[in-house]
Amino acid sequence: MSTEGMEYYRAKYKTLEDLPGVGPATAAKLRQSGYRTVEALATAAVSELVAAGIGEATAARIIEAARRSMAITFVRGDELVKLRKTVRKLTTGCPSLDRLLGGGIETQTITEFYGEFGTGKSQICQQLCVTVQLPYEKGGLEGGALYIDTENTFRPERIMQIAPRFGLDPDEVLKNIIYAEAYTSNHQMVLLENADEVIKENNIRLIIIDSVTSHFRSEYLGREMLASRQQQLNKHLHKLIRLARAFNAAAVVTNQVMAQPDVFFTRDVRPVGGHILGHMSHTRIYLRKGRGNIRIAKLTVSPNLPEGEALIRITDRGVEGEEDA
Ligand code: GTP
Ligand code: MG
Repeated sequence: MSTEGMEYYRAKYKTLEDLPGVGPATAAKLRQSGYRTVEALATAAVSELVAAGIGEATAARIIEAARRSMAITFVRGDELVKLRKTVRKLTTGCPSLDRLLGGGIETQTITEFYGEFGTGKSQICQQLCVTVQLPYEKGGLEGGALYIDTENTFRPERIMQIAPRFGLDPDEVLKNIIYAEAYTSNHQMVLLENADEVIKENNIRLIIIDSVTSHFRSEYLGREMLASRQQQLNKHLHKLIRLARAFNAAAVVTNQVMAQPDVFFTRDVRPVGGHILGHMSHTRIYLRKGRGNIRIAKLTVSPNLPEGEALIRITDRGVEGEEDA
C-alpha cells in the first residue's frame, strides 16, 4: 500500500527516542500514556503530557519538535493551501451519496451518520471498510480500516458479501480491517487513546466508531451527569480528530437518535451527543427510512456543501446508490 498524499504527515523522527529531549524514561512514560508515535505527540496538548508525569517545559519542547517535524506548526497561507490539498475524499460506494458529499467522505475531519435504528448507519460503516482499500483512482485511500464497535454489530460475513462488488478479494479485505469491541465508554476512550501505533503500523486511513454515543448514553444517566458525559465525549472526539489529522485518515462516527413525534410540524430529532457532537462533527448526515430497503440521506451540516438529499438502498451487495440499485 502506498502512502501517497501523506508527505506532510511523515515525521522526520521515526521513534519517540529520536525526539530531542526524550530519553528512555520519558519515552516509557509517554508510551504508558498512549503516546507511541511522533504523530500522536504532534497533536498532543502540554497539559496532557504534564498529566502523564512529564515536566511542563519538557512537554512543550517535545510537542514543538514533533510538530516541527511534521510541518503542522505555523504555516503560511500558500502552504495552508498545499496542506489542505492533502485532504482526500473517500468514496462511499454509492454515487448518489458521494455526490451529496461533494465527492465522498473527507479525511482529516469527522463525519457523523445519525438516525433511528435500522437506518443503515452500520451498513455504511462496513461498506467504507471495503472502499477505503480501493486505489486512489477508484475513490479509495489505499489503506486499512480501524473499526471500534460498541454494539457488536460488525459482521465479517457482510464484508465478504460487499468486497466482490468493488473487485476486491474478501479475504484480503478482511486482513486490512482492525477490529476492536469496546465494552464501556471508558474502554472505548482507552482504545482510541492507544490507537496511534496500530494506525501507523497498519496504514489505517479510516477510523470508525459505531456507535460513538451508545455507551455514554447508557452509562451517564440523568441531568446531573450530563455535563460530565459531554466533557468525556468531547475529549474522545478531540482525540479522534487529532488522529484523523495526524494520519490523513477519514473519521466516521454513528449516533442513534430518536424521532420526536410530539414536535409540531417538523420531524425533529434529538441528537444524543447534544451540542458538543454537533460542533465537533464537521459533516453530519441524517438517515431516515423510506419504502422497503430505501433510505434517505440528508446532509444537514457541512462546512462547504449545500444541504441536500440522496437516496440509497440496502441490498445483498451492500449499500447502493439509487442509480445502481
Ligand atoms: P442501529 O445500530 O440499531 O441504530 O441501526 P443502524 O442504523 O446501524 O442500522 P444497520 O446499518 O444495522 O441497518 C440495518 C438494515 O440493514 C436492516 O434493514 C437490515 O435488513 C439491512 N441489512 C443488514 N444486513 C443485510 C444483508 O446482508 N442483506 C440485506 N439485503 N440487508 C441487510
Ligand atoms: Mg448500527
